[in-house]
This record gives sequence, structure tokens and C-alpha cells, in this order.
Amino acid sequence: MKFFIDTANLKEIQEAQDLGVLDGVTTNPSLMAKEGISGKNNILKHYKAICAIVDGDVSAEVIATDYEGMIREGEELAELDEKIVVKIPMIKDGVKALRYFSEKGIKTNCTLIFSAGQALLAAKAGASYVSPFIGRLDDISYDGIQLIEQIRTIFDNYGFDTEILAASVRHPIHILKCAEIGADVMTGPLSAITALLKHPLTDLGLEKFLADYAKTNK
Ligand code: E4P
Repeated sequence: MKFFIDTANLKEIQEAQDLGVLDGVTTNPSLMAKEGISGKNNILKHYKAICAIVDGDVSAEVIATDYEGMIREGEELAELDEKIVVKIPMIKDGVKALRYFSEKGIKTNCTLIFSAGQALLAAKAGASYVSPFIGRLDDISYDGIQLIEQIRTIFDNYGFDTEILAASVRHPIHILKCAEIGADVMTGPLSAITALLKHPLTDLGLEKFLADYAKTNK
């Protein structure tokens, strides 16, 4: 399973890259706003800065919600760097835009997926990735992980190339469940990735090894 980090924070992206486990980055307008990035030129510059850090796909979201606007913005984003994946919302004009970009050989990530039907539609339109938001489903008492399972079954039934990018990941258990099911990618915060490192027995074991070494190596 590929690990993407879900942030526009350059320091966190660099930290994940340095850890040696990073396969890509996802951003969205809220994450860009959180970093105080505004204005078209600054936004484009920031995407370029992200691409300079990471070896892998970088999802950059369009703001337009009409077909022509999405095509215009998406083409501009795709020209920035070959790592850019154009992120398109799951709306009617978005589905048409997915088909357009697919035929032009430009990678896409269909975002705001909350049902298997939406994922199927995006895959049929040629999306490179679909992003089901598991955390936001859990928040409203739906089972986000079950949605990943359902999409995995459908995509496997028909051999779709579209990758399942489990998004809105909140904690390490989400990551493990996605890996068990066979999600192709997960995107989450740095905290969820580094939480995989932790186990109290690892800390205790290391403390004991170092103490025993110190006793005999004074
Ligand atoms: C997906 O690409 C989104 O950026 C993201 O995963 C949303 O996560 P959130 O629900 O934590 O905002």
C-alpha cells in the first residue's frame, strides 16, 4: 500500500519524505488555507515547492465547479510538474472532466467520494484515483472502512485500473484496516503515520538493552 501525506505543510512533507516511506502528497483547498497560502500565484508556487520535495504524485485540487473551468484550471495545474495529479470533485461536470483528462493522459484524483456508486462512476470515467473519505463517514456513524471493502470488490470484479486512495484517514488503525482490505493508497496526517512506530514493549526493550550495555561498557 502506498503512503501519501495529507497536508500542504512543507515541513511535515519533508519529515515524511526523510522517513523514507512517502509515496505522494494530497492537498485540498482547506489544507492550503491552513498554511496561509492564498492567491493564484502563491498557490501554484506552493505546489511547485511540494513537488520539489516528494518523489511521487501530488494531488492539486481545482476550485471551479463547471466543466470548462475545471479543464482550464486542471490543465494549468498539470503543466506545473509531471507529478501533479488533478483533483476533481465528484459532481456531474467533474465526471465529464475526468473523462477529458483521462483521454489526454493527465492523471486525476476524484475527491469527495462517499458511496460505492460514486467510486464506480469515477472509475468508468477513467479516474486514476478515487478518494473515499473514511474519517468523515465514521464521524456521521457510517462505516468508512466498509466502503473501502465494497469499492475493492467492485473494482476487482471488473479489473478497473483506478486506484483506491483511502482518504480522511485519522489514526493508525484506519491505516492497518485499509492495508488488510487492500486499498492501493492511504492518505493521512503525519501523526497517523508516525503512530505506526510506537509500541510500549519496543521502548521498554530498548531501555533494557541500553542499560545492560552500559553496565558492561563503562
Ligand atoms: C483527501 O484527499 C482529503 O484531502 C482529506 O483526506 C480529507 O481529510 P479530512 O476529513 O481529515 O479533512
